[in-house]
Amino acid sequence: MSDIERVLISEEEISSLVSGIAQRINTDYADKNPLIICILKGSVIFFSDLVRKLTIPLEFEFMSASSYGNSTQSSGIVKLIRDVKVSVKDRHVLIVEDIVDSGITLSYLLDYMQCEGCASVEVVSLLNKTARRVKEVDIKYYGTDIDDLFVVGYGMDYAERYRNLPYIGILKESVYS
Ligand code: PRP
Repeated sequence: MSDIERVLISEEEISSLVSGIAQRINTDYADKNPLIICILKGSVIFFSDLVRKLTIPLEFEFMSASSYGNSTQSSGIVKLIRDVKVSVKDRHVLIVEDIVDSGITLSYLLDYMQCEGCASVEVVSLLNKTARRVKEVDIKYYGTDIDDLFVVGYGMDYAERYRNLPYIGILKESVYS
């Protein structure tokens, strides 16, 4: 696509990262019937690939939180747009994110889950971008670290576009500057 500077992580590389994460969760959560929560919308593609590689009993749910609007920079204010439809009390919760950047969204979600009385809560994120981290968050399962680049594809957007790209790419600066 002409708006993409270059491919950062190919479909094949993504698949292998997802398999690695799934393997660890299959082992760690074999007898825990985890509640796996997809944080819409960015993580929907990663989530759907991940759960199909999990072979353990599990349930899944959807939440939606947003702090970006149509910008490349977090507003710092997280809005809960959609909550889970079941109680998380006493459940082993896994929060699934596509990317952790400032950590603001995740920190909000972790606080929220603790308050709701989960038995445990851990984070799964395909990408970990630490360069602009504002809130310290513990990401137990992640695919790979990335540099301070604005990435799109595989669920991730710029102004709601590019989510459908099957790879993760770097957006040309001319698109957003
Ligand atoms: C993205 C992404 C994470 C969050 C990470 O969501 O899916 O939820 O930003 O950034 P942070 O660590 O700086 O908080 P976004 O708010 O863009 O909504 P979306 O998933 O619907 O695209």
